[in-house]
Amino acid sequence: KIAQVAARRVWDSRGRPTVEVEVTNEDGTHGIGIAPAGASRGTREAVELRDGGARFGGLDVQQALAAVSREIAPLLAGRDVRDQAGIDAALVALDGTPNKSRLGGNTLIATSMAVLHAAAACARMPLWRYLAGADEAVLPVPQIQVFGGGAHAGRRVDVQDFMVIANGATSFQQALEMTAEVYRCAGELMRERGSLAGVADEGGWWPAFTRNEEALDALVESIERAKLVPGRDVSIALDIASSEFGHGGRYKLALEDVELDSDALCEKLVRWVEKYPIVSIEDPLAEDDEDGLVKFTRAVGGRVQVVGDDYLVTNASRVSHAAAVGACNCVLVKPNQAGTITETRAALDAARAAGYRAIVSARSGETEDVTIVHLATGWNAGQLKVGSFARSERMAKWNEGVRLEARDGLRFGGWQW
Ligand code: PGA
Ligand code: ZN
Repeated sequence: KIAQVAARRVWDSRGRPTVEVEVTNEDGTHGIGIAPAGASRGTREAVELRDGGARFGGLDVQQALAAVSREIAPLLAGRDVRDQAGIDAALVALDGTPNKSRLGGNTLIATSMAVLHAAAACARMPLWRYLAGADEAVLPVPQIQVFGGGAHAGRRVDVQDFMVIANGATSFQQALEMTAEVYRCAGELMRERGSLAGVADEGGWWPAFTRNEEALDALVESIERAKLVPGRDVSIALDIASSEFGHGGRYKLALEDVELDSDALCEKLVRWVEKYPIVSIEDPLAEDDEDGLVKFTRAVGGRVQVVGDDYLVTNASRVSHAAAVGACNCVLVKPNQAGTITETRAALDAARAAGYRAIVSARSGETEDVTIVHLATGWNAGQLKVGSFARSERMAKWNEGVRLEARDGLRFGGWQW
């Protein structure tokens, strides 16, 4: 039974305030959840509760902390910590809004994750095992950023994430080894060309490229420089995050100083798929361009993963709708987009029911919280996206995967297509 629920303000990887919730059981076991924060958010995500005003750029979370002590703690006191579904439903009802704006998606996801950790602690189980139940827990394939762009790098390039997937790896550790070499070689290559301008929000190299294709060429060269074979050992994954530069079917590519319509962007991306060893493309068209997403999925969905992030916002009914119209074939699963663990799981279940793949994902604003690694593994989601191979809010997640493989002996699922 839950004895106590406490909230405090901690700080995320951008140095901004965020909500940490700690749930303590009557037996003294406890669990902690910390809310992450996105920068390129979908319009239908659970809304964050921020104080506004001048302090910390308006991003303080005192109202969220007050909501936990005044409303959430009394609601949860005495409840069975293992009743995640019942607790999450009570949280959603207490909030009472369709987008969780009254109590905040940040407040709710931190609470929901803390309850989950407390339940696993109470059962004396590692979280992945608690989540897996009778099913096998399987380590996910990492999707790791090499160059950051878009909203995470001052819009220096239009595309947000240039990532790699070690599709030839047969263990989690090997996937990280391959990626470490590609990341290192990419940094070297950019330093030589004078196109390295630091690191972006998720730890990827901050590139000073003049065309989006220059990043793709540099990525292929980096894989080769790492003595790996593009397409066989390591392939490319992109997050276009096109809702950031496209609205109403018009897409403004700042780097190339052109405005494309939906069909033209679609054709450009199809050409990339044909020319480069790309295996996954996220948000190729904007969240409001369903026709474009359907067209793109029809064109390349048989060959590559088409991932919905801003368009699907970890929402089970949106996933089912997408499947009905034929948009995307893979769901990005971000717990704070949904707002509770139960709704996050529902989105994953909807993906499975539709025959869609799933990628559990971090946000650009992160902390040492490693819950998502356990979700991806315990639920056998298949893939995990955490950002780059630098900065410890990212490495904490990759290193947790290393532990689950080396210490707990979990099997690596490997890339399937
Ligand atoms: P965000 O971006 O966390 O800044 O919203 C991540 C993504 O688009 O996948
Ligand atoms: Zn995305």
